[in-house]
Amino acid sequence: MSVDVVVLGLGYVGLPLAQEAIRSGLTVLGFDVSPRVIEGLNAGKSHVDDLSDESIGEMLGKGFRATSDESEISSARAAVICVPTPLSEDGGPDLGAVLSATRAVARQLTPGTLVVLESTTYPGTTEEELRPILEESGLVAGQDFHLAFSPERIDPGNAVYGMKNTPKVVGGLTPACTQVAVDFYERFVDTVVPAKGTREAETAKLLENTYRHINIALVNEMARFCHELDIDLWDVIRLAKTKPFGFQAFYPGPGVGGHCIPIDPNYLSYNVRSRLGYPFRFVELAQEINATMPTYVARRAQDILNADALAMNGAKVLLLGVTYKADIADQRESPAMPLAQALRSHGADLSFHDPNVEQWRLGDSVLQRVEDLDRAVESADLVILVQSHASYAADEIAGRAQRFFDTRGVTTSTQAHRL
Ligand SMILES: NC(=O)c1ccc[n+]([C@@H]2O[C@H](COP(=O)([O-])OP(=O)(O)OC[C@H]3O[C@@H](n4cnc5c(N)ncnc54)[C@H](O)[C@@H]3O)[C@@H](O)[C@H]2O)c1
Repeated sequence: MSVDVVVLGLGYVGLPLAQEAIRSGLTVLGFDVSPRVIEGLNAGKSHVDDLSDESIGEMLGKGFRATSDESEISSARAAVICVPTPLSEDGGPDLGAVLSATRAVARQLTPGTLVVLESTTYPGTTEEELRPILEESGLVAGQDFHLAFSPERIDPGNAVYGMKNTPKVVGGLTPACTQVAVDFYERFVDTVVPAKGTREAETAKLLENTYRHINIALVNEMARFCHELDIDLWDVIRLAKTKPFGFQAFYPGPGVGGHCIPIDPNYLSYNVRSRLGYPFRFVELAQEINATMPTYVARRAQDILNADALAMNGAKVLLLGVTYKADIADQRESPAMPLAQALRSHGADLSFHDPNVEQWRLGDSVLQRVEDLDRAVESADLVILVQSHASYAADEIAGRAQRFFDTRGVTTSTQAHRL
């Protein structure tokens, strides 16, 4: 039986895509290499924040099925690749999953199929890496099958913008490929924006994330000197953002996390350096500033204890919120990890609280998880708000803590130390 689309990679990006396509009446098959993911989904269990078990049940009810049987890919009229694009050991792009998923598609490719890459990657990937692999099938891109890139813009935990109402950029290898891909996405996304080609679509995604990365670095650098100058940077940002044009607010924090912001700009800077031989200086500087934030926060924490004649060595330090962003469970690249490592290297007696995280590992050990938040707050020498989950009444907690360090600027209480 044929299906409208096979989604390869059923994670934070692939599953919401599959869900939206199904809701719009498309028939969808899921393909993944992880037996855990396949078994879980087919049993109605979600492993991503934005989809509940009920949502998976609803998808299954409408014919969705997850498989690791590659031969089933041939039954789909479109194949969308949403697999991870991490960094390799040397800090460069690791296209291993993308290439392996592409090979699976190539082995099963049939004439007329639309193949779309959604994974974030460096400019040229679709044409230079995917195209030759897919053409090993004997079919020619732009002639026998359609090839396009469409960056995923999903923002996990965002209650307003989801797959359907976030405009979707689509760039094909040829104008006809673009048109086929636009027609495909228009079946389940409100606004589809055609790009000139695959490279423009690939670079648009990297510009978006690099812009964010650099602006976060800007306020992170400002946070340091504003503290020295006794200026409340959060108040500065509140004032600046009253300007209705030409300014967008970004906020400092203990570092950047997640699968996108700390990683994607590297794809661009690596590509510029390896192809053109010169650095993308903005990215490299932003990388440097953002990467040092956890150790800066650890130093400030030490200063707060020192001011009361206490040492970090042996101090009871409670970390609140260890995920990379508020109100989700995803801990990938969370700055809480390097912060905890820095505090521990100074001898801190660490514990953590997070409503979304059951177990948190630091190196080889499992960090003590606090169950009774009120008691833990009162007994800690220092409480650090690392991630501001909605369930934290920060001012109230700050009022009860012996010392409270707010790295997110959410407290108004003068008892709290702010970044
Ligand atoms: N998570 C986000 O918020 C976000 C937002 C925008 C873009 N992206 C990009 O989307 C891509 C996917 O990210 P994600 O967060 O969904 O990853 P994820 O880790 O949540 O999911 C990826 C899935 O792909 C599967 N997989 C790995 N290799 C495979 C293969 N060869 N064939 C089939 N399946 C395979 C994994 O088992 C996993 O289930 C990345 O390029 C990422 O940069 C992510």
